[in-house]
Amino acid sequence: MNSLDKDSQKAAARVGLVSDTIVIHGGKPLHGRIEVRGAKNLVTKAMVAALLADTPSVLKGVPEISDVHVVSGLLRAHGVEITELEPGVLRLDPSNVKGAHFAEIDAHAGSSRIPILFCGPLLHQLGEAFIPDLGGCRIGDRPIDFHLDALRAFGATVEKKHEGIHLTAPQKLRGALIELPFPSVGATEQVLLTAVRAEGTTELKNAAIEPEIMDLIAILQKMGAIISVEPNRVIVIEGVEKLDGYLHTAIVDRNEAASWAAAALATKGDITVGGARQQELMTFLNVYRKVGGAFDVLEDGIRFWHPGTPLKPVTVETDVHPGFMTDWQQPLIVALTQAEGVSIVHETVYENRFGFTEALNEMGANIVVHKDGIASITRRVPRRKLEQAAVITGPTPLHGAAVRVPDLRGGFSHLIAGLAATGTSTISNVGIISRGYELFIDKMRALGADFELV
Ligand code: EPU
Repeated sequence: MNSLDKDSQKAAARVGLVSDTIVIHGGKPLHGRIEVRGAKNLVTKAMVAALLADTPSVLKGVPEISDVHVVSGLLRAHGVEITELEPGVLRLDPSNVKGAHFAEIDAHAGSSRIPILFCGPLLHQLGEAFIPDLGGCRIGDRPIDFHLDALRAFGATVEKKHEGIHLTAPQKLRGALIELPFPSVGATEQVLLTAVRAEGTTELKNAAIEPEIMDLIAILQKMGAIISVEPNRVIVIEGVEKLDGYLHTAIVDRNEAASWAAAALATKGDITVGGARQQELMTFLNVYRKVGGAFDVLEDGIRFWHPGTPLKPVTVETDVHPGFMTDWQQPLIVALTQAEGVSIVHETVYENRFGFTEALNEMGANIVVHKDGIASITRRVPRRKLEQAAVITGPTPLHGAAVRVPDLRGGFSHLIAGLAATGTSTISNVGIISRGYELFIDKMRALGADFELV
């Protein structure tokens, strides 16, 4: 069994998904309403933030996804008591934070990238931290150099070992001047979670300003932090001695919402995504409309549907917020295979995020990936060294095939493709999808999909 199969099965087991393979009888529009809860990319970080406090926190809107279980396991290993007060509401009590045993931490090695964010909080609480080998989706090298450079700037010593990274703070961590080479989401969170309790002021330049980061800042402010978001991607943090627990409802998962929106378009269906918010999806909604998708912003969600008229091709460049998010391109590409003409998707955030298109081609799509990207005078995002472009020529009818999920978002795209394709598709390794899509099997069922788990 290779490591991807193992990751998938571990992820599936964490949320009680008994099968790792799904057989879909596609070609039927998805119809109905589903609900989306807290964002994977906020909830997991909010849980880590609870580690910084002296008193318990309560987090609402927590989805049943395997990444939440990984972070819960790691927090428990460090003495945080976690109680589910009611479905989706966690109480996190850090009163007895302690060093974890290697075996307890190692059990979570390779499962998620969140452990790297434990560094600052553990250094503040215990003076040292051990971080296991990281996991997360295999969508490029995904280095952690920005994280480690920032931690060193705060005064931490970093020792790389075979099994992970050992960090110590011989003296109290001090505020620092940090400029990120790229507005990295994770590195910005690393700086926030470390600077809030460091001595003195931290100025972070070229910070990421994704809505999930703004929500994390809101949580930290509730806890007693002093953080100002200034113009031009500058964030200033004045360190404080101690922080209290928070009570917070997580921002809704805009990536999950965009994924179901793409599913509505690709299957010629009509899906209302309860909880989806226009504010964080504006860039996505513009592209959705340009492609020919219809949407209606409701009081408590957004309805997405295929209006029955031919879809139009688009050119999209992924970018950091407020640009078009990299996580949106994979699901959208499935719908673009049905647009009349040539679409181009430039991926500028990750260097290897088109692996999933091979399976789409096996299902009848015409997608050519340019491994070094495509230069174009109409480009808005400056070219990066590591980028790719996908050229999608449509419309091409999709037919069923046997495909294997490569990563979280790519995997959801395979589900959409299977649902849109005529005939039967067998999709294996679907456990990976449970890392970030809550109850996706139940939601597919609620939308009228025809499938069985084997
Ligand atoms: N990078 C470095 N060095 C670092 C950190 C990042 O070179 O130390 C590079 C990365 O290799 C990448 C770029 O910077 O090319 C952006 O990475 P970033 O740090 O912003 O991403 P991340 O924090 O690892 C989060 C989400 C991703 C999402 C990205 C971009 C989480 C857990 N993950 O990743 O979500 O795509 O931000 O918005 O929050 C997903 O949900 O499927 C997912 C991959």
